Amino acid sequence: MKYLISFFTIAVVALACTASKSIDNTAKNLDDQSTVTSEIIVAPLAGPDTSLWVAPAETADVVNPMAGDEDAIEEGMMVYKRNCRSCHGKLGNGAGVGAADLTTPAADFTSPEFWKQSEGSIFWKIENGRNDMTSFKGELDEDQIWQVITYLEATFKTQE
Ligand code: HEC
Repeated sequence: MKYLISFFTIAVVALACTASKSIDNTAKNLDDQSTVTSEIIVAPLAGPDTSLWVAPAETADVVNPMAGDEDAIEEGMMVYKRNCRSCHGKLGNGAGVGAADLTTPAADFTSPEFWKQSEGSIFWKIENGRNDMTSFKGELDEDQIWQVITYLEATFKTQE
């Protein structure tokens, strides 16, 4: 009788283990499936990020070391013509020749709204890019980015 009971116990324990394992597997499968499903659902909806574009707080105190420098304005104009004009336009208003193909509008540098941010914020956005705005990290060095900002300030800056 004693043997019978212990055999029974072993059988029950073994059964319980198998059962819980298969529950585990089912949960795992469900998990895998839900990951795949969410990828399928999310992918077609993933459009451009249209939220307000805000640079990190530490850029707030960064100032343009070249502000107003005539040579920087000249150099910056060259940088702008080569790298920015196609989208942001000759007039800096976001109406460049390639603007119609963009998924979000190219920024308007003649808008007073644009100039409410710090020079450091503008620098950071040029360096990092977002959506169709290319990241210029590695493309332009620090001096070139400040030069183009100096050009933007001298040419398009407006204040309310
Ligand atoms: C391929 C098109 C394209 C080119 C080239 C391009 N931009 Fe942009 N730019 C955009 C778009 C689109 C946005 C808006 C991005 C967003 O809101 O996600 C933008 C946004 C910006 C912003 C931020 C605007 C804001 O409201 O704060 C700055 C600054 C900027 N561009 C500067 C430049 C400079 C300087 C160059 C050249 C060195 C340049 N861009 C080249 C398309 C372009």
